[in-house]
Amino acid sequence: MADAERRAAVLVVDDEQEMCDLLVDFLGRAGYEAEGARGGSEGLEKVRNGDFDVVVTDLRMRDGDGMELLQGVKADRPDLPVIIVTAFGSIDRAIEAMKAGAFYFVTKPFKMREMEALVAKAVEQRRLVQENRRLRREVGDRFGIQQLIGRSKAMREVFRLVELVADSMSNVLILGDSGTGKELVARAVHFGGRRAHGPFVPVNCSAIPEGLLESELFGHTRGAFTGAYTARRGLFAEASGGTLFLDEIGDLGMALQAKLLRVLQDREVRPVGSSKSAPVDCRIIAATHRDLKTAVREGTFREDLYYRLSVIPIRLPSLAERVEDIPMLVDHFLKSFAGRTSTEPRRLTPRAMDALMRRPWEGNVRELENIVERLVVLTNGDVIDEDDLPALGPGEANGTPWPAGGPLPPLREVERRYILHVLAETGGNKERAARILGINRRTLYRQRERWADRGEP
Ligand SMILES: Nc1ncnc2c1ncn2[C@@H]1O[C@H](COP(=O)(O)OP(=O)(O)OP(=O)(O)O)[C@@H](O)[C@H]1O
Ligand SMILES: [Mg+2]
Repeated sequence: MADAERRAAVLVVDDEQEMCDLLVDFLGRAGYEAEGARGGSEGLEKVRNGDFDVVVTDLRMRDGDGMELLQGVKADRPDLPVIIVTAFGSIDRAIEAMKAGAFYFVTKPFKMREMEALVAKAVEQRRLVQENRRLRREVGDRFGIQQLIGRSKAMREVFRLVELVADSMSNVLILGDSGTGKELVARAVHFGGRRAHGPFVPVNCSAIPEGLLESELFGHTRGAFTGAYTARRGLFAEASGGTLFLDEIGDLGMALQAKLLRVLQDREVRPVGSSKSAPVDCRIIAATHRDLKTAVREGTFREDLYYRLSVIPIRLPSLAERVEDIPMLVDHFLKSFAGRTSTEPRRLTPRAMDALMRRPWEGNVRELENIVERLVVLTNGDVIDEDDLPALGPGEANGTPWPAGGPLPPLREVERRYILHVLAETGGNKERAARILGINRRTLYRQRERWADRGEP
């Protein structure tokens, strides 16, 4: 790191010339880039125009005192550490300075060694803070909205919503079929928002047995139940200052739905076995592939919870609704697999790309990603052609819009899948799709609106 090689710069502010020179001289010999300023206003001026790593300032000065300088520094360069030097009599003011964000205070007279150690500590802390910020920025790039590929109208609407909600603290509900990118969007909302520096804690509500989920979410005291040998903080507590991502919320049992609702209403959690509640300080993002509105109508999902969670709903389109994004996605995956194996990315012939665009995508982006990975692993040479594509599964190949051997779906589901299938076949061309389906375009639109109302893609 270039920064580590550069000598750390210290600004010494003191209106007593002699004291100022002495410190500048000493720190210079200790290996720092040291510079003096004769009072608070000159000090602040230098801070604003310079690139210092630490400020050492006297507290009582004639021209703009140390307290004012500290406040100015904190307003302008919040992570520039300030060490306050104070006469023995003014400890109270030094404590005040600590409260205002000073790094440390030293009383006069002090030993030069003591000052050197403090400056070194301050430099170290500043480096850590900066390193942390850099890592966070990197993490933001890795998981933020930049990771969401797509230019279709449907995806542009998703981007708009993600940006809109990222900065708010409202609960967000993400709806979409399996593999449409719900978790990716949840991360983009978190890492694009004000709480990006806080933790992102995902929990899959369908993967944890109902009996365990409560203590997992809310925590438990020691001995709260058989096997609870130690107390445990819940995921709500772990997500404090960040985001709790409740994945597959549609699979949450009724009893837990009631408890979750209470937590969201009161904004506090009570660990299992405890009589004390703790405040909740995290944002909730929930996701499900289920049709929650129907679940509400059928009485398997609480309506009040539904409305609490879906303050801002984001519906992810199925891949069939955005076939025009397939080439971009394929490119993205080809590049990312090439990056992993440090090889040149493969290319697809136009014919192969065309075939991918006309496939039914039951498993949406995840299925596309898997197929691209398979192609990269299983084919040799730089170019992938149509013949390299894996054959369609039995149900898909004979054109039935349901998978062979699986449970038989209700008619409306078959209808929905068939419509999506035809949309995929026509490359998302609604006019042609409507003609093939033998319905008019407006009926097709209305049908899709009805799905949207039910939160289905
Ligand atoms: N718009 C997109 N751009 C790039 N990659 C995407 C996009 N959408 C999804 N993916 C990728 O597809 C895979 C599935 O996405 P994700 O896990 O977010 O979907 P999901 O909706 O949560 O699926 P499930 O319902 O199965 O849990 C991931 O590897 C993700 O990186
Ligand atoms: Mg998921």
